[in-house]
Amino acid sequence: MFDFNYYTPTKVVFGKGTENKVADLIKEFGGTKILIHYGGGSVVRSGLLKRVTDCLDKAGISYVTLGGAVPNPHLGLVYEGIELCKKEKVDFLLAVGGGSAIDSAKAIGYGVANGGDVWDFYDYKRKADGCLPVGVILTIAATGSEMSDSSVITKEEGLVKRGYSSDYARPRFAIMNPELTMTLPDYQTACGCTDIMMHTMERYFTNGGNMEITDALAEGLLRTVRKNALILRDHPDDYDARAEVMWAGSLAHNGLTGCGNDGGDWMTHKLEHELGGLYDVAHGAGLAAIWGSWARYVYKDCLPRFKKFAINVMEVEESGSDEEIALRGIEALEDFYRSIKMPTNLKELGVEPTEEELALMAKKCAVGVGGEKGSAKVLNEEAMLAIYRASM
Ligand code: NZQ
Ligand code: ZN
Repeated sequence: MFDFNYYTPTKVVFGKGTENKVADLIKEFGGTKILIHYGGGSVVRSGLLKRVTDCLDKAGISYVTLGGAVPNPHLGLVYEGIELCKKEKVDFLLAVGGGSAIDSAKAIGYGVANGGDVWDFYDYKRKADGCLPVGVILTIAATGSEMSDSSVITKEEGLVKRGYSSDYARPRFAIMNPELTMTLPDYQTACGCTDIMMHTMERYFTNGGNMEITDALAEGLLRTVRKNALILRDHPDDYDARAEVMWAGSLAHNGLTGCGNDGGDWMTHKLEHELGGLYDVAHGAGLAAIWGSWARYVYKDCLPRFKKFAINVMEVEESGSDEEIALRGIEALEDFYRSIKMPTNLKELGVEPTEEELALMAKKCAVGVGGEKGSAKVLNEEAMLAIYRASM
């Protein structure tokens, strides 16, 4: 077991109609001039944005709006947001949407609170000294960005997708009304469930120390998401299933399922970020497409964990050798992904990179992780390329 810090300062306001409390929450956290930041328009179409601005108008809170955060959010809009905040003297950021709007808001927050080029943080050149406070109204259960310390931004030039993490960016509050996720396309719901499971699995498949309590939380979370993803596939309006998945999404990425381990593996995420940067695929789908190839490449080096996962999470038959059980667990998870219409290879994801593009992704990935990374198995550029090739 490793020593750990656990810091989750986000006030969670969970349940039906909670978005109506947004003005009170902004006041509680000292916001006086707000930037409402959102994505491509789902919050306009659903009427949520109007409800939010009505609440702020009624409470006499002044705001400006900036939409347009795309999935795999762009640096260009972050720069625009920074200028707007400076011009309007914004002191609080309200992200209304999913991980992309939240991450873009966090990046804007870094840009306003620190001088210089905000990309420096994502390019590992400097560390931030602060971030404008961020509040969230969540519309998709997926990334856990509503409680996490991270934000992931894509620089259009060179299509470089990078993450930056610091406690400064952890949202002050997160409003989570599971009903708001009912307008999601089925594909996005499934992508979200995949991402939630992957955040837990990245922390689970390690060769570092582990704690029994952390494992129990992780395994319970994974079983819950698996079960409720299937309910949502058949009954997308099931409130309780939406709620289970939404809360799981936050717990999967607020640090809880990593306490006592070595920080996790994270290579499936790193490999996916190159796919997301280059081909603009949905993050959860990209993870599903790459995971099986990653798992088969590393499982022998992390056999006890793969065996435990197969039995405790995927509930496979406990017969045969450890390797056989581990492989059965990998197959069972791929079957599950297929059952919620997630891809299990790049072709199913809809991308067919050339050998040169595979090599480019492996190179960028290796540079992005500083050479090599992983805990289930440490991967270098050659290993990354082998996994990309196997996922074709
Ligand atoms: O942009 P709009 O019009 O809002 O549509 C979005 C988008 O097309 C739509 N959507 C969201 N809520 C909806 C809805 N459509 C109808 N009804 C609703 N209630 O869904 C699509 C996906 O939204 P997005 O915000 O992109 O999804 P997600 O939350 O999966 O975020 C993905 C981004 O977060 C990053 C990913 O790499 C990706 O860039 N990540 C952020 C992390 C973090 N900050 O901790 C960790 C993750 O591992 C991840 O890397
Ligand atoms: Zn993720």
